[in-house]
Formats: sequence, C-alpha cells, structure tokens
Amino acid sequence: MPENSYEKTLSSLGVNDSIGVSWLFVELRRQFTSELADAVKKNEWARVRDRWMRSGNPIVEQLEKNWVKPTPPELQEYVLRQLQGFRAFVGIRLQAGYPLEHAEGRGPNWIENEFLKLQTAFDNELAGCLNEQDLGVTKIDWMGRKSGVLGLITETWLKPSPSDLKPVVGQELNKLRKHVESQLELRIAAAEAGAEEEDHVDLSLPGVVRALGSRHLIRQVFQEIEDIFFSIGFSVVEGPEIETPYYNFEALNIPEFHPVRDDMDTFYMELPKGTPGQLLLRTHTSPMQIRTMEKQKPPVRVIVPGRVYRRDNPDATHSFAFHQVEGLAVDSDITFCDFTGTIEYFVKQFFGPSVKTRFRPSYFPFTEPSVEFDVSCVFCGGSGTTASGTCGKCKGAGWIELFGAGMVDPAVYGFVGYDPKKVSGFAFGIGIDRLAMLKYGIDDIQAFFQNDVRFLKQFP
Ligand code: DAH
Repeated sequence: MPENSYEKTLSSLGVNDSIGVSWLFVELRRQFTSELADAVKKNEWARVRDRWMRSGNPIVEQLEKNWVKPTPPELQEYVLRQLQGFRAFVGIRLQAGYPLEHAEGRGPNWIENEFLKLQTAFDNELAGCLNEQDLGVTKIDWMGRKSGVLGLITETWLKPSPSDLKPVVGQELNKLRKHVESQLELRIAAAEAGAEEEDHVDLSLPGVVRALGSRHLIRQVFQEIEDIFFSIGFSVVEGPEIETPYYNFEALNIPEFHPVRDDMDTFYMELPKGTPGQLLLRTHTSPMQIRTMEKQKPPVRVIVPGRVYRRDNPDATHSFAFHQVEGLAVDSDITFCDFTGTIEYFVKQFFGPSVKTRFRPSYFPFTEPSVEFDVSCVFCGGSGTTASGTCGKCKGAGWIELFGAGMVDPAVYGFVGYDPKKVSGFAFGIGIDRLAMLKYGIDDIQAFFQNDVRFLKQFP
C-alpha cells in the first residue's frame, strides 16, 4: 500500500470495491497503532492525537474528503461506515494511551469514569460485530498482545501510575479485562454454534408425502349399486377375468356356432403349444351365474361387479375394457313380478324416485323371456325435448336403454344341476360405465381409463 494513502482518492489508489476498502482500513489501523505505541514510549501522545484527530488537517478529515466524498454512491456508504469504525478505534486508543500524569490530581473517580467509557466503547464495538470475522478483529483490537487496548492501558496507565493510584487502576483494568474476555467468549461461542447450525447438513431423506387419492368413479358407482342390493338381501361375489369358453359361453346356453358369439368377439390367450382347451378374457360377468350356482344350492341372491373385455374399437361409447354388475336371484318361487319389482326398486334408488321404467322384449340365450330395460331420459325428463330442441341424449325418444335382463332360461339350470321344475329366477347385466355416464353427465367413456387427474378430481 502506498504511503499516505489518505491523501489520495480511492480511484487513484485503484480501489473500487468493499474488499479493497476494508484492506485500506486494516492498513490504516496498523499504521496508527504502531505510531501510537511509538509515541507513548517517547511521550509524544499529543502529537499523534493531533496528527490523526485534532489539529490542522487531521487524517480522519482527509479520509472524509478523499475517500468518502468523491466515491460513487454504491460504495460510499460502505466507506462511511468503515470510517466511523476507524474513528472509534482511534478514539479509544487515544483515550487508552492518554498518559496518566495528565490525570494527576483527578483521583480515583476520574479513573473509574475513564474505564467506564472504555467499557462502553468496547460494548459498542462488540454490538457492531456481524460475524466471526468481526469478532476476531475486535478480539485482537482489545486483547492483542502488542497493540491491544488492554495492553496499551497497561503500558500507559498501570505501569507509570503513582503508587496511590496504582491499586485503583489495577482493579479497574482487571474488571475491564474480565468483561472483555467474558463478553467476547460468549459472542464467539454463540457465533460458532450458529455457524455450525448453518453448516449442518441434514442427510436424512425427507419423509414420503403420500397424497391421499380418492376412489375412481367406477368404484364409487359399484359401491352405490352394491349398497342398494345389499339392502334387499343380495350379496357380492367376484370371479376371474380370464375364463374358459365353457363358462363364458356354453354353460350360458351359447353353443360354439351360436350367432351371439359374434357380438362378443374377444381376446383369447396365447397358450403354450399342446395345452388343451382355450382361455379368454371374459366378455361379460354372466359366467359367474354358472360358477355361483355350481357352488351353492338355491336360494341364490348375488350381484357380481367386475371388469369385462371385448374387441371394440375405442370411441366415446366403446372401450375394449368396461364394467358390469351381474345379478342373479334363484329360488323356489321367484316370479316375473319379483323380477320387475326388484329392477324398478334398484333404478329408482339409483336415479331418484321420479324416473319411469319400461321393458321391451329382447333376446339373450340364457334368459327366457328376455327384456331390455329402459328408463325415462334423465336429461329431458322423458319428454324428448329440451329448451334447445330435441334432446340429444335420448334423440327425442324420451327413453334411454339401460340394461338387459330376463328370467333365467331353464336350459341354464341343466348345466349346474338345478331342477328347472323346482326353481325359477331372474338375471340382469348392468353396464356400469354407461350408467355412470348417465348419472354424472360424462360424455366420453374414455375418461374412465385415461386417469387424467383433472377428471378424477371432480369425483372425490
Ligand atoms: N351378459 C349380457 C351382456 O353382456 C348382459 C345380460 C343380459 C346379463 C341379460 C344378464 C341378462 O344376466 O339376464 O350383454
């Protein structure tokens, strides 16, 4: 660093940032400290005081003029703060280096008061420390062996003090030393603890936050239907999605070349060569009628929720996988009236009491007679028209086809060992996707399978 840096501007010293500025001040402190130590020995305290603080053109004023004033605003504030700190530094040392002989006649009170001022100066300096580095500088400033304030006081006050004042100076100096030491220790320990906290790396993985989902709308509709049938004495059974042709077709009175098999074109498993028979993805839940009756004697009252498969091309109303709830009731005295009553009860529970129902004759190989079951259109109230004209949902018919059903064909009982003369019953197969679409106003069956959260979230 050039001599007499305080006579030059920062820019001519090539300093343009805070790091450069703080180095300049470090250097200034060193210069002042050694000058003062020298002067104290030579009894030239007053000269140092004048040169730095007091008369003519003292250095602190030159600093103000050359370092603060011409400096661009972004750095100016920093320089100003450094200068304030430096003023305090010089002030404290000048006070501490003040030769005691000048204090003659002022007695112990004066001494106590001087020490109190020093302690306050120390407290202020400590309060201004922002980090461990600042604390380190303050520690050296006060406790440094060569030029620390405490050392300076020992040299200038304690050693040369007259014997009557020595005990007071010694006592006050001790008090100040203890204060400085303990306060610094406290602050340094706190800063180290803080730094440790900051450095502490938490190696544990954050816990897994499991988002709570909701049941898929199809599951919810299954549940609604199950609850309705539970209330009238049905129970739930489930069966395999991979079936044999026997259960899927033959035992349901659909022999190999029956034309309805065309409607149920489906996926067959590729089995290892030589495996006898075939396996297929079930085309409906009806096979569970057979499996249930094989297993238990009448009375039977079951519903069968499940997924079924057909080789349909996907569009707004078709999907290769969809859902059904099969129903079967077989007992010794079940009539067509029980059948229609049960179906009506279910539909009114599901859609509300105001819907009307109707049967149309239909055909299924495993029921006789067979019906197609319709419900009055839930969109236009059965009128076939809406405010904007013909109802698009029922195409003006006022009715919507809901599901197939019928009285169990006596031929089916032959496959499960029931006596067709003693038992009778009814069966139905409800397409769940369609039902859910009607009830919840969904116009594309694909929405059930895309798992788009924006869709799913609408049915919490
Ligand atoms: N299994 C038929 C289908 O998937 C639906 C069906 C109709 C089931 C009439 C029945 C029934 O139990 O009696 O097309």
